Amino acid sequence: MAAGVAALAGLAVAQEDDVFDFVPDGGRTILERMQSDGIPDGLAAAIRAEAAPAEDWKPRLEEAGLDQWDAATLAEYLEAYAPMDPAGDLPRDGRDLALALCQSCHIITVTVTQDRTREAWLGTFNSPSHVEIDMTETERNLLADYLVLNAGIPFDQIPPELRAGGASY
Ligand code: HEC
Repeated sequence: MAAGVAALAGLAVAQEDDVFDFVPDGGRTILERMQSDGIPDGLAAAIRAEAAPAEDWKPRLEEAGLDQWDAATLAEYLEAYAPMDPAGDLPRDGRDLALALCQSCHIITVTVTQDRTREAWLGTFNSPSHVEIDMTETERNLLADYLVLNAGIPFDQIPPELRAGGASY
């Protein structure tokens, strides 16, 4: 029985993941992928030892083989969380936060189709309908940075089942 329930839960998660495949990877996933492909030693040591702004991480990540987009997204994640163990248990990234926290009141489409500045995102998080959402200051900043880079997805790239009601709420 327990195994059956677990298998069903696993299936639900797998299906859910497919529907949300169009939402770009966040820093956690990109770092896990680098970790399994092999992070250059110097970069791994830097991630374990240094706190640095995103603009310092980005060129080092591009040098390690990431494309500009992944490098920019992971750079924001490292700005939020390094120094950290890249092989350890990694904290939630912007995508994780958006999927976990931004679809209980309206569909995720409302969030990921918006092309906005960081200030505009932080303003939304502080609005009366959003201020109660359970995020730390670090998570708010990380989610805003992730959405600046990765939201603004064209409506025609949204899976049909997530288009109900348009890009509104
Ligand atoms: C507790 C319910 C609730 C949750 C959770 C929630 N929203 Fe909303 N959201 C609303 C309501 C209500 C509106 C429409 C009224 C308004 O604009 O405040 C809205 C509207 C929006 C809008 C369009 C209007 C605007 O402010 O520009 C965006 C963008 C948005 N939400 C983003 C998010 C993001 C990002 C998250 C996750 C961090 C999130 N929402 C989670 C309730 C919620």
